Amino acid sequence: MKLKPFQLELYFAKYEFTCPHMLCASDCESLSIEELLVLSGTSPQTFLQSRLGYTDSQGDPALREMIAADVPGVTAEEVVFLSAPEEGIYIALNALLSTGDHVIVLSPIYESLLNLAEQITGNVSLWPFHMKDGRWTLDEDELYALATPKTKCLILNFPHNPTGFLPDPAQFSRILEWAASRGIRVFSDEMYRGLELNGRNRLPSAVELNDQALVLSGLSKTYGLPGLRAGWLIVKDAALRAEILNWKLYTSICAAKPGEVLTLAALQCKEVLAQRNRELITRNIAGAAPFFKRWDSLFTWIPPQAGSVALVETKQPSAQAFCEQLAQAGFLLLPSSYMNFGDQHVRFGFGRQAFLTNLQALDDYLKAHY
Ligand SMILES: Cc1ncc(COP(=O)(O)O)c(C=O)c1O
Repeated sequence: MKLKPFQLELYFAKYEFTCPHMLCASDCESLSIEELLVLSGTSPQTFLQSRLGYTDSQGDPALREMIAADVPGVTAEEVVFLSAPEEGIYIALNALLSTGDHVIVLSPIYESLLNLAEQITGNVSLWPFHMKDGRWTLDEDELYALATPKTKCLILNFPHNPTGFLPDPAQFSRILEWAASRGIRVFSDEMYRGLELNGRNRLPSAVELNDQALVLSGLSKTYGLPGLRAGWLIVKDAALRAEILNWKLYTSICAAKPGEVLTLAALQCKEVLAQRNRELITRNIAGAAPFFKRWDSLFTWIPPQAGSVALVETKQPSAQAFCEQLAQAGFLLLPSSYMNFGDQHVRFGFGRQAFLTNLQALDDYLKAHY
């Protein structure tokens, strides 16, 4: 099996750890193991004395209990703990889809959600975001017109990476009800749930509205713990869950013990972590506004409604060429071409502590060169 190059991650692999001024991260500010243990009230001994044997393939039952307790109507049995959120995308789409199934995918979207659906089925339609009155919007009629008798799955991601779009609860319910009425499975990527910036407007998890939905969640974004690689799927359908667990035996078998212990700790202080990150993002977005006003010759600022990122239009002829040039100068922005969405937009990420310092450095660079 030959997979398409994962362009976005290849771009990050090239620049993420060498570019001094990160401006497009989708994750939030991280913390040390020590800080996490202190914040959660976990004794270092608990971590140090955990035994490094194989773990339960579906995930530690106590951990799954905690995850399930957060989503009304979900039981620990319905949770599959992963070795990484990315693993969940891979095994769930492989378990769910076959050649010839039709899949509808939001566009733009995190690249593996599109590429894997395309790779497995060869039959994908894109449901595109549009810019209307200075805001990203989705046209539901456009979605309904894309469905065919072969449509097996609709891939959603709200709060959305990269636009920062969040539907209102009524729109989200309508989409899920429509999918249920057509027998279409929803794969709902909820990695950024909890980053609703005003602290309100949080959508229910898709699985609360549609018991056929599959939900992906984890600690990388909202909770600022991407190095923990903690993620999970919620799947109510027992037969599909068994298929997914079988796929997992071919990818990682089970999660790493240190990760499970630290995930338990993180879940004990998750609200503190999320609140910290919401405050940081709100501060950074407010601090970025004057920059975008000053540089309206280069960017059209489109503030996000939720999540840690925004997709901003650039007036440069090619976003990709512009980002490559900036990367050579030490500033990392992500062009929309790596999200299969033309070449006129760039992603900014607001979840990092150093964002405003890095933006100031970009401002100085632009003053000298534009
Ligand atoms: C929407 C979305 N889903 C899934 C992932 C994968 O998460 P992780 O890198 O923690 O595996 C990402 C990462 O950027 C993402 O943006």
